Amino acid sequence: MKNILVTCALPYANGPIHLGHILEHIQADIWVRYQKLLGNKVYFICADDAHGTSIILKSKELNILPEIMVKKIFKDHKKQFINFNISHDMYYTTHSKFNYFYSLLLLNNFNNKNILYKNEIYQFYDNINNIFLPDRLIKGKCPRCKKKDQYGDVCEYCNEVYNSHELINPISVLSKKKPILKKTEQLFLDISIYKNIIYNWIISTPLQNQIKNQLLFLLNNNFNIWNISRDSPYFGFKIPNKYIYNKYFYVWLDALLAYISVFKHFCYINNYNIFDKFWNINSNYEIYHFIGKDILYFHGLLWPIILDVLNYRKPSNIIVHGHLKINGIKMSKSKNNFITSEKWLNYFDSDSLRYYFSSKLSFNISDINLCLDDYIKTINCNFINKYINIISRICPFLDKYFNNILSNKLLDNNFYYFFVNKSNLISDYYLNYNYCQIFLEINKLLSIINKYINNYKPWNICNSVKKKNELHNFCTTIINIFCIITIYLSPIIPNIFNKIQKILKKKLYWNIINNPILNHKICKYKKVYKYINKDLLFNF
Ligand code: 2FM
Ligand code: ZN
Repeated sequence: MKNILVTCALPYANGPIHLGHILEHIQADIWVRYQKLLGNKVYFICADDAHGTSIILKSKELNILPEIMVKKIFKDHKKQFINFNISHDMYYTTHSKFNYFYSLLLLNNFNNKNILYKNEIYQFYDNINNIFLPDRLIKGKCPRCKKKDQYGDVCEYCNEVYNSHELINPISVLSKKKPILKKTEQLFLDISIYKNIIYNWIISTPLQNQIKNQLLFLLNNNFNIWNISRDSPYFGFKIPNKYIYNKYFYVWLDALLAYISVFKHFCYINNYNIFDKFWNINSNYEIYHFIGKDILYFHGLLWPIILDVLNYRKPSNIIVHGHLKINGIKMSKSKNNFITSEKWLNYFDSDSLRYYFSSKLSFNISDINLCLDDYIKTINCNFINKYINIISRICPFLDKYFNNILSNKLLDNNFYYFFVNKSNLISDYYLNYNYCQIFLEINKLLSIINKYINNYKPWNICNSVKKKNELHNFCTTIINIFCIITIYLSPIIPNIFNKIQKILKKKLYWNIINNPILNHKICKYKKVYKYINKDLLFNF
């Protein structure tokens, strides 16, 4: 049995959960559920990212205290993830005692290692709103490709990473005016001495190939210092004045630390003694972080440094996904295609989105397109017609002729074991985050079952006793194969899986498929899923 800790990136506590968050959590949750099916001990944690300039600005806009705002948003975020069946063992916040403790500990360790120093720098300042601007609140022309409207840290068009000072015609996103450069003293880390350590971690970790290359590139270009303090107004942890006067920990520092502090909190409230077992430098327990490609720098380069400085082990892997697109366009408020999780559930359901996303997810970082027409087609024509309809077509025979009792033998053992024998293939796809291959393989299997049913034509059966026995064995075979497919899909569609377990009056688990379910009474079939009405898209 393995011990595994899984995390997703922490959503900012300044707005609602949207389908971009849900995509990542679904990717991780499917993997967690699969690992649990294998019998491994898995802990899945996440939290709200409650600090930073974006939080203080939002609380000002809403005219409430940031402490109160993040509490309110936290409650809503938690609810949204539950609605999508994300099986977090702990969803917490970065605004916590344990997180403050680790922020101080880390700072002391930086200090003890002599990599901490103060320096005066010039930073962009919005003198209408009286605030220093983070890179994401500065926009201008990319210094390389000259594309307009790019952020202060990276060009989304040509991917160039630069310093905000290099932007051409910078503008504050807040006041839409040109920001001034203002002198400020900040705390810095000399991270250049970690180059070798990080290099070794990158090449010895089974990262996606593209990710490995990107990290090596970033490591070799401008990887020297990290500014870890921020000026007021800010919402976050105050840095002790002995290090620097009246500054806050940069949000990214305590956000990353939350992977440790949330787990510490989880162990503390449950009285588990597994914290050290996971984080010890020599731990053979496993830790996996699921993230989007936009925050690779922090997780792939800065996070391993933090762990090294704390003398903790490094991640087993980081699994990176692409951006979410809606009908081919990157989801964003400005493009008017921003879908919150709440809105989604007002129109559609969670299992169907899990199924659709899994049909698109693999171990690469290409963007994932949610095309709404295609989503409805996939659910109605593929999921319902090819999968759900198997049970809805067969159960009426069992009800009409056999009192809903499965027979004592299968019609065709070989046919049944053909499906059982796919289990290793499906397992490999789950383990390697290759969910779109599961979708393709299951579809092949569904076509074979549907063809088998159509060839047998159970509805044509005549009334002889022999034929009836055969029909009974036929229905039992199909229900058992349907069980296999349902177990294969169970990490993806937890709601439907539970409904089917109820109809079959059986707890379904991975190894149950080795022996077919025989002589067993099931429930009368009740609809488990209904077609999605295409008209819903008109108001969506
Ligand atoms: O990019 C973001 O949305 C950040 N809030 C993610 C933080 S993840 C980590 F640092 F914990
Ligand atoms: Zn550019």
